[in-house]
Amino acid sequence: MCGIFGYVGRCEDAPQRILEGLKKLEYRGYDSWGIAVRLNGNAAIERHVGKIGLASTMLPASEIGLGHTRWATHGAVTEENAHPHLDCSGRLAVIHNGIVENHQALRRELLARGHLFHSQTDTEVIAHLLEDELRAAAGEADHLAQALICAFRKLDGLNALAVLDIASHRLAAAKTGSPLVLGWASEASYLASDPSALLEHTRRLTFLEDNQVAVLSEGGVQVFDATLGERLDPRIWDITWQPELADLAGYEHFMAKEIHEQPRVIHQIAAGWGAHAEQLAELMREARGTYMVGCGTAAHAALAAQYAFSRIAARHVNFANGSEFAYLEHFLNEHSLVIALSQSGETIDVLDSIRAAKKRGVTVGALVNVEGSSLYRLADYPVLLGAGPERCVLATKSFTAKLAILLLTAYAFDHRLEEGREVVQRAADEIQHFLSDGRAELMRQIAEQLYQREHLYIIGRGPSYPLALEAALKIKEVSYIHAEGFAGGELKHGVIALIEPGTPCLVIAPKDETYTAILSGAMEVKARGGFIIGLSPEPDEVFDIHVPLADVGEGAMLVNALPPQILAYHLALLRGCDPDKPRNLAKSVTVK
Ligand code: F6R
Repeated sequence: MCGIFGYVGRCEDAPQRILEGLKKLEYRGYDSWGIAVRLNGNAAIERHVGKIGLASTMLPASEIGLGHTRWATHGAVTEENAHPHLDCSGRLAVIHNGIVENHQALRRELLARGHLFHSQTDTEVIAHLLEDELRAAAGEADHLAQALICAFRKLDGLNALAVLDIASHRLAAAKTGSPLVLGWASEASYLASDPSALLEHTRRLTFLEDNQVAVLSEGGVQVFDATLGERLDPRIWDITWQPELADLAGYEHFMAKEIHEQPRVIHQIAAGWGAHAEQLAELMREARGTYMVGCGTAAHAALAAQYAFSRIAARHVNFANGSEFAYLEHFLNEHSLVIALSQSGETIDVLDSIRAAKKRGVTVGALVNVEGSSLYRLADYPVLLGAGPERCVLATKSFTAKLAILLLTAYAFDHRLEEGREVVQRAADEIQHFLSDGRAELMRQIAEQLYQREHLYIIGRGPSYPLALEAALKIKEVSYIHAEGFAGGELKHGVIALIEPGTPCLVIAPKDETYTAILSGAMEVKARGGFIIGLSPEPDEVFDIHVPLADVGEGAMLVNALPPQILAYHLALLRGCDPDKPRNLAKSVTVK
């Protein structure tokens, strides 16, 4: 959600570094932004509502500062509520990601002690709390760390925060829940809410754990345990990601770029992920039961896995949305395996699920795209997707990467890894052809026919049912058209009441055992006036438009993901929406 970036070092271009860092975090979703730097012993601040994209900063040269992109929770989207927020003395500038759940009580106490507030945010209480704690800790060794520890202990909820302390020329940070990463560089230190913002400056990163506090100076980073108050020896990771993969590479939007990266990512998985698939399959064999968990698109991948394992390996896997897991985890024990799916590795509902599962002694596997993320570190067996940075808020290549690994794992479970490889490779080839042989253009033309519609339905059966859910999610979140995915067989149990003359309906009809039944469903929709777009290897008279797809067997779930992604992209463009940054959405959902 909110983006955090901080710098302290020898160079005087802190405002520009921070601005560029915040631009790298734009994809997380935000509605206002701000920067504070130290200038002649005071804080110089700018705050703005709106996008940072082409903005420049007017702040003067400085060697230390921090900045923030805000996704509003407490207080409207205004300049006053944009971060950073100052304490009464002007010594401290605070930025924050999360929700201070007891902010009202704290605000009342602080007001009673004479503090003055200038915003409606929960964040501002942190600045005033820390102001009091610093006064109390004056003269102590590590006084900034100790004061922050005391202030931090008073906050309820999941919070990541960073502070610019003008007086000591240091930055400080603390966290529970939301991620914070510290960067080690020569004569400089950095902090950010996401490693991708740091990679151009340094690959030497420390991931702050929950209930830890850090103090940053140009000489390096100190980390403290906020519970015990003791100094720790921080682990430093050398991150291997290539930062240049995170640019547009000639595409107009990250969404288009990431859609086009799918054949390469899937081929790479088919060729190189065999050992991971064998390992996950072995964990599943050893476990008495396997549970998949994820949110949003990742949940659709988990549901698709349920079908894939049943069909390919005759193995049942349980499935829950991350936000529902807590109500369904009571039967887990030390013989269970939970596999968490997450692009970011920071989705709070997934992390909470895994923490709850670990308390029950469960073994945890993970399919995760971000090396070093919280999920990556929590899991006993993390498998990286290798999809490269996904900058568009919508998940595309991370979805098909998860599906590809899960398909391979299902085949590995059934001792048919080589066959799985061929299936996944054929699917990757078909995706490549679709993107280059004119069918992507067909999807654009379909978008032209549909972009003014209010409602759109997608049906699929069996393994195509999660694909229908995913297609609907892609379309609604980026074009704001109301789209719903259904299991084809459920139509006559209620949904068909929604069909009116002209209602568009996408029908996912691969040549598997669902084929005849899904065409019957399409007939029922057509008989009520529906406009049928069929995604299928074969034409059929029920289709008003046929989108031809090669028959790739079990790889169909990979191939069927693609046309709706392209359709969603063009619907967004035709409706004047920004495909990379849909309204109200954040790339990484770190609050509950
Ligand atoms: C949809 C989308 C979201 C994410 C969900 C989980 O396009 O991107 O539904 O899939 O927020 O995010 P991760 O995978 O980072 O846990």
